[in-house]
Amino acid sequence: MTDFVKKDSEEHDESDQPTVSSDNKKVSINEYLEMLNSGKVKLVDETRPDNTSKPTSTSTSTSPTIKEINQVMAVHKKAKNITEQILVDAKMGKIVDTGTVKDLVSELVEHCIKSPEAFVNMTRLKDYDSYTFTHSVNVSVISISIARRLGSSAQDMKNIGFAGLMHDIGKMWVPEEILNKPGKLTDEEFEIIKMHPVRSYEYLRDYSEGIPEDILSAVRSHHEKSDGSGYPDGIIEKYIPRFAKIISIADVYDAITSEKVYNKGIVPSNALKMIFSWSGKHFNDALVKFFISAIGIYPVSTLVMLNTNELAVILEPNKKEPMRPRVLIISNRRLELTKPSFFDLTSYNIATRIPYKSIVSALDPRDFNVNPNQIIEQYIGG
Ligand SMILES: [Fe+2]
Repeated sequence: MTDFVKKDSEEHDESDQPTVSSDNKKVSINEYLEMLNSGKVKLVDETRPDNTSKPTSTSTSTSPTIKEINQVMAVHKKAKNITEQILVDAKMGKIVDTGTVKDLVSELVEHCIKSPEAFVNMTRLKDYDSYTFTHSVNVSVISISIARRLGSSAQDMKNIGFAGLMHDIGKMWVPEEILNKPGKLTDEEFEIIKMHPVRSYEYLRDYSEGIPEDILSAVRSHHEKSDGSGYPDGIIEKYIPRFAKIISIADVYDAITSEKVYNKGIVPSNALKMIFSWSGKHFNDALVKFFISAIGIYPVSTLVMLNTNELAVILEPNKKEPMRPRVLIISNRRLELTKPSFFDLTSYNIATRIPYKSIVSALDPRDFNVNPNQIIEQYIGG
């Protein structure tokens, strides 16, 4: 263990963890989602040193408008281009332009505060051809969103967003044939991959100015796991820097939901279940719950089956009633594809008080030969 890690660990003891106030025992994801839906679960961040967590009530959330979604899509594109430039420059040994990264992160945080649901919406954008750059933006966006749910200060949100954007800068020195290898990596290849967090850390430390320790330590430790089975230092949860714990969740979620050269990408609802199953082992238990709260039970672009036997695509998650988002219905009751039509799943029959339609399950769009992102693009594009 390095001096760096020891120093950081001194600031994180056992009592420095967030908890779920209504429930500290292990629950299944279905039980948890039910609690979240019924409003029984209250998330409280007790990691703040002054213990003055702001309430993370969902009642102030508003639905994103099409205009807001379009705005964040433009921001995503800009962020991807800037990130690509910074990372490619780094590969050539150029100094990291921290001013540009800070400006970009400030813009991201502004959007997150102004329209949090539209903001998270942008992470459905994946880019097979420039995976590392798009992934870096998505990790930053998801991490900022978690920080917001935690009630973090704007400065903390900016720092975590910075760390998210730059966390994989060290991958620029990993040969592409290893990064994109379709099969299993050899031990030697995996050892090379495992060097990237330290390379990221060292590059940001040595080739930039004024990057706070919070950011550097988050970058270095983004592959550490709660049970100590991660890398590069193999440290257990209480030694893992707080920002790194958040970034690691965002990193794994975006990585497993992205289509890459060597795998197909997992649908968001299954990815959430996987992340949930790893809480406590790989991830901080309470932070996973904040993550799910930030991203929604049914993330944007999830394909679902309704109880009316129609297919629908999630357009706008509903923080107040997570099981009742706004959707685009894309088929008739015989599952034949139709022109997408907007439907708000909170609407119900006034006489019976029973909702007209409900979600039965999430589906893999590949099984139905549909492309949810394309459907949303066409809908919001008019
Ligand atoms: Fe990484």
